Amino acid sequence: MNKTDILVIGGGVAGLSFAIWMAEKRKDLSITVLTKTNTGESNTRYAQGGVAAVWDENVDDFEKHIADTLDAGDGLCDESVVRMVVEEGPKRVFEIIEWGARFDKKVDGNYDLGREGGHSENRILHFKDITGWEIQRTLNDKAKQYDNITILEHYFAINFITQHHLGRLTTRLSPDIECYGAYALNKETNKIETFVARTTILATGGAGQVYKSTTNPVIASGDGIAMMYRAKGRVANMEFIQFHPTSLYNPAGENPSFLISEAVRGFGAILKTADGKEFMHKYDERKSLAPRDIVARAIDNEMKIRGDEYVYLDCTHLDKEGFLNHFPNIYEKCKSIGIDPLVDFIPVVPACHYTCGGIVVDEMGRTSIKNLYAAGECTSSGLHGANRLASNSLLEGLVYGKRMSMDIEQVIDDIQLREDIPAWDAQGTTDPREMVLLTQSLKELKEIMSSYVGIVRTDVRLKRALDRLYLLYDETEVLYNTTTISPQLCELRNLITIAYLITRCAQMRKESRGLHYNTDYPEQFPYQQNTLL
Ligand code: FAD
Ligand code: SIN
Repeated sequence: MNKTDILVIGGGVAGLSFAIWMAEKRKDLSITVLTKTNTGESNTRYAQGGVAAVWDENVDDFEKHIADTLDAGDGLCDESVVRMVVEEGPKRVFEIIEWGARFDKKVDGNYDLGREGGHSENRILHFKDITGWEIQRTLNDKAKQYDNITILEHYFAINFITQHHLGRLTTRLSPDIECYGAYALNKETNKIETFVARTTILATGGAGQVYKSTTNPVIASGDGIAMMYRAKGRVANMEFIQFHPTSLYNPAGENPSFLISEAVRGFGAILKTADGKEFMHKYDERKSLAPRDIVARAIDNEMKIRGDEYVYLDCTHLDKEGFLNHFPNIYEKCKSIGIDPLVDFIPVVPACHYTCGGIVVDEMGRTSIKNLYAAGECTSSGLHGANRLASNSLLEGLVYGKRMSMDIEQVIDDIQLREDIPAWDAQGTTDPREMVLLTQSLKELKEIMSSYVGIVRTDVRLKRALDRLYLLYDETEVLYNTTTISPQLCELRNLITIAYLITRCAQMRKESRGLHYNTDYPEQFPYQQNTLL
């Protein structure tokens, strides 16, 4: 049994920033961070555009950032949460700059603030087109400076430990479920270890891998959200899956799909159909810089009308030196597949990008389960509503990372470590003989979600998806109960839960709002509500 004061599951922006702030406040507490591959691999690491924060108060202010976030969220944001994140954001960004994060500056020494869809001002701090890499590097380096932070790589968290593991029945209506830590698979020894903790933090990121085409790395399999649902905790708004309008169309296919940052459109690039004609003016007066839900739907519509597999992003009129300075990574990637962005149009297609819903948390990151907190992309905090505003996600991770540390500092001394936790029971299981069952089920799952629960939905498609998901669920549960556990099996099982949650939430929302568009209900309700499961 591993004992620690605080167990953090996830080492991206939310998990690591929390660990650092907590370690700084309380040097007497032990903090153990689990990551399922290496610490560098996370959605955080792939962020391109940057961090949105009100920085230049001569032209920008909190009210504008709040209004843009509420507008993108299409009536479903919690305004008090939006205000809190926007107002605390610049302080948190300043702190990571003090930890060593670099953001690009102009020749006059001021930050070079970029623009993305839905933002009324330039307010995106960025490091070239690899901002996430820079933030992850900074957090990794900073975390190493604390003796009370232990990072354990290649540990795959499987389930939380609750009263259920002590023989008590818990249901979704139980008001007093408590978390005592988690079981995690040590991928090197293939043994499941028990981690007991006074407080557990979930920062496991998003679930993009549930779709065939996604910008998310393979770690993004929604493990934390699925664990929460299994532990009978509250999950909400899973129908709001954000498709980024512009991932690079690569006929060879790649997982993940490479992102062409929205900042490229913020720099002046224009969306066009294969015949070279602009089309975004037909959908929104902000044209190529409208919020993501609008742009992705417009592209999807144009592709369907014309029977095309992609649309184009035209960068050929842009300043060459400026483009190379801002987007060196995107330039190199395009060149590697034979496209010169300053000469050729870039073929782009929408791809699943961000999970707006997730684990319900309050303003301090507390979940519905006692002594269990969550932050970052795995949560539904009220910030994003029905559609996330570009570059608000890294900001959310930082703000909630800090807030969780402030709350836990106050309460942790009154929480006892549970010592009476049983070890994982692997009796009656045998080694899997046919891995093809897992790989094929995963393919089927992605196919179902991409065909029936994508950008545009209908009741018939949602029902068809759910019928097929039940079958996959039954087959996978048999494997889970009879074979020794592997990361592949756990990810498949988690992704099936995620697919179920997305589809059920989509069925329950009898309107079209933000990222959820159902042609059977094209109108919006006059009132708004979360889809709580
Ligand atoms: P992540 O950074 O994804 O970290 C998850 C961590 O959890 C990882 O360490 C992983 O190993 C661990 N983990 C997961 N499951 C388990 C398990 N079962 N056991 C143990 N560990 C586990 N947002 C912006 O604000 N600005 C941008 O410019 C931007 N660009 C983006 C570009 C791309 C290509 C992508 C994919 C996303 C982008 N986003 C951007 C979104 C943003 O990067 C993410 O939402 C954010 O980084 C999520 O941070 P997180 O800490 O919640 O999760
Ligand atoms: C991008 O660079 O386009 C991604 C920004 C984001 O997802 O917030």
